Amino acid sequence: MTEPAVSDPIQNDEPENPLPLATLNVALGDRSYDIFIGDGAIRQAGHLMQGVLASPNTVIVTDENVAPHWLAPLEASLNAAGITHRAVILPPGEHTKSLKYLDELTDSLLRDGIDRKTTLIALGGGVIGDLTGFAAAVLLRGIDFVQVPTTLLAQVDSSVGGKTGIDTRYGKNLIGAFHQPKVVIADTQTLDTLPRRELLCGYAEVVKYGVINDPAFFEWLQSNAAVLLDGDAAARREAVLRSCTSKAEIVAADERESGVRALLNLGHTFAHALEAQVGFEDKLKHGEAVAIGMVMALDLSARLKMGDTSARDRLIAHLQDVGLPTDIKTLLGDNWTANALLDHMGRDKKTEGGKLTFILAGDIGQSEVVRNVDPAVVTQTLDAFIAAAR
Ligand code: NAD
Ligand code: GLY
Repeated sequence: MTEPAVSDPIQNDEPENPLPLATLNVALGDRSYDIFIGDGAIRQAGHLMQGVLASPNTVIVTDENVAPHWLAPLEASLNAAGITHRAVILPPGEHTKSLKYLDELTDSLLRDGIDRKTTLIALGGGVIGDLTGFAAAVLLRGIDFVQVPTTLLAQVDSSVGGKTGIDTRYGKNLIGAFHQPKVVIADTQTLDTLPRRELLCGYAEVVKYGVINDPAFFEWLQSNAAVLLDGDAAARREAVLRSCTSKAEIVAADERESGVRALLNLGHTFAHALEAQVGFEDKLKHGEAVAIGMVMALDLSARLKMGDTSARDRLIAHLQDVGLPTDIKTLLGDNWTANALLDHMGRDKKTEGGKLTFILAGDIGQSEVVRNVDPAVVTQTLDAFIAAAR
């Protein structure tokens, strides 16, 4: 496995922010790139991206929630570095990750003029990052893009690793491409304007890295979650750095998800079934579904005798401490059955030939890909959650 290097930190030039940015490299040969993490990174964005731009022409793609807070500081930083820019501001929300807005975005970019050396800058959460990255992958047969993630989820997950795409009526992310960014600039100060519920959704993905392969990080989170979620700069920089380090290692080892990258889907098969059952409504956000999904995965692991239930119970305790859901009490409807949820899992694109594959863990940090899981045991887990919620 290629070790990502954590290089000497760059000094942040804002006197009120003494913490340096952390840096990390995603090692992918000629597609390698740096990730810069910390409070105030956007103020240095122009300088940080200067070396990777094919020309000084950029277009910022962002959304209506992010633009009022973070577009001006980014523009000022680009101005200071002599980088030209214009902005496309899209509506917020998952529905923007669609053919309709891909059409609007590419139309606007082509109408106002781009060339093969133009770089797109995705300023926003995973929706803007995935859409902009996909537009960059297909425009003029591929142009560069830069990620400036502004949600915790995007900073620890979606901005790293090059998965880009849009949703379809048949499911999420079914049209897409692998297209790596040229650099990722994760300004943790942007989390100050993020609604608490969105912050918690991203936090579920942070916890995921501890459960996948880093029990020491899980323990660190147990001690530091409160200050991190309350905005402590050092704690959130550390959480984003350790999450990105974990993701960078996995992506460097398996960029196209033919093996170990599947570990990043811990909790996601259950999560997607829950989201499909709820109907992708605001009632259950993806990160909340992942939190419940991880608990279900550890419950299933215990039923398959991979370990006892103590890992599941430690996870439940930590998620509840921070205010994330761990059961389906607020979701359950009359039509909820184990079979209905299993049916949704069958439609998830992560199933292989109708056989169920799960990421399971007998203990915190001991995750593995388990194929051909007996649907009868999955039913036991689902029945137990449904019974507990009735
Ligand atoms: P999002 O992009 O919809 O952002 C959540 C909300 O927060 C939106 O309303 C947005 O406008 C707002 N927002 C963003 N930053 C803000 C800020 N700093 N201040 C105030 N408001 C802000 O959602 P998300 O959770 O960031 O991303 C979810 C998407 O990411 C999904 O489409 C999912 O499929 C995708 N995803 C992709 C990958 C990948 O590897 N590419 C991985 C995980 C998730
Ligand atoms: N979020 C899963 C992945 O990037 O592979």
